Amino acid sequence: MTYEEAKQKLERFDQLHVLQYWDGLTGEQQESLLAQIDRTDFSVLKNCENRGHTYPRGVFSPMKTMELPEIEAKKDTFSQIGEQAIRDGKVAAVLLAGGMGTRLGSDNPKGMYDIGLTRPVYIFQRLIENLLDVVNRTGAWPRLFIMTSEKNNDATTAFLKEHAFFGYREDRVTFFMQDMAPASDYNGKVYMDSRFEISTSPNGNAGWFSSLNKAGLLPLVHEEGIEWMNIFAVDNVLQRIADPVFVGATIDAGVEAGEKVVRKNAPDERVGVVCLEDGRPSIVEYYELSQEMMDAKDEKGDPAYNFGVILNYLFRVDALERIARKELPLHVVEKKIPHIGADGETVKPSEPNGCKFEQLVLDMIHEFSSCLPYEVVREHEFAPIKNPTGVDSVESARELCRQNGIEL
Ligand code: UTP
Repeated sequence: MTYEEAKQKLERFDQLHVLQYWDGLTGEQQESLLAQIDRTDFSVLKNCENRGHTYPRGVFSPMKTMELPEIEAKKDTFSQIGEQAIRDGKVAAVLLAGGMGTRLGSDNPKGMYDIGLTRPVYIFQRLIENLLDVVNRTGAWPRLFIMTSEKNNDATTAFLKEHAFFGYREDRVTFFMQDMAPASDYNGKVYMDSRFEISTSPNGNAGWFSSLNKAGLLPLVHEEGIEWMNIFAVDNVLQRIADPVFVGATIDAGVEAGEKVVRKNAPDERVGVVCLEDGRPSIVEYYELSQEMMDAKDEKGDPAYNFGVILNYLFRVDALERIARKELPLHVVEKKIPHIGADGETVKPSEPNGCKFEQLVLDMIHEFSSCLPYEVVREHEFAPIKNPTGVDSVESARELCRQNGIEL
């Protein structure tokens, strides 16, 4: 892209200030800035004015979850179906590790965080140990895709190599990077990270499939005969990955997607809740739940909207390819965005000062024609680490590991 083309593009989106330091930049810096302008989608910035608003939703109704007693009764059948699919190479795992983990406050990628007490136990290590249970059970090595971002890719790949992938076969691991989105002030003006760098952040975890595709990995998916992808978050250290019973239940149900869910611990718990929206599978955010929905009961007298998602989904590849072109809602999130001030010095805000733009994997659910909500025991499979202390923290995850006999 030439300077003139860059200027025209910026003018179109009212972002000409990006070029304000141009004359003082070296040739290399100018080139790098032009390349960044070229690849940046500035169209998201206009959504800044929508912050705090929810996007229009359809009519919600309860959705049936496959609960623990039913799973227990059919466990052997599900297990057999799932193990066979894994042995046949039909199931891959996709670790979403592109997030910034700002709440945890570590400079390193979240997966490098050491939750050990008497020995080092890294978050990545816990996840891979869980996946190795499936390897030991089936004798197969599911392909493990790991999504990183521009901000944490080098550190993540170097760390996993240094630790020999914690025992996972390196030739079964494939990295890809997700796309970035510009970050702006509240007027939708993009921040600058430096005089020649636009401030960006990962574009949300729904970007995983398009990024995998962009990285040229779909042919590999087809060559290996992968039919299902198990997407999971980096921060749940009790996460069961490529869980044969879950895989078997989802295949047996003949649906396009499966989602692991836990029973909510309070009607207003801050989790996305499974539901139908206009008759299709969907997830309603906790802040969108009306009092009426929180009070609603099913035929057994249990809360009708009682199950929350834990970011562990199984998606059928052919369905993913079908929905790939669908536009998902864009979430505008208020965040603290470091940037350079008028004097060119870096400003590290202590309060949110602008917007980041993200698409979320939970919004993908509404695009599938069918989905199986599958209950898991919260204390056994859900120990997310979002914060250093308190709710969903290193502390709470350590306690849950202890309860599950995992030595830290
Ligand atoms: P979170 O919503 O917890 O975001 O991500 P985060 O960026 O890790 O943490 P905070 O909000 O800054 O504290 C849930 C999962 O989605 C992944 C994260 O790595 C985590 O596994 N994620 C999130 C991505 O892969 N890319 C993104 O752009 C955002």
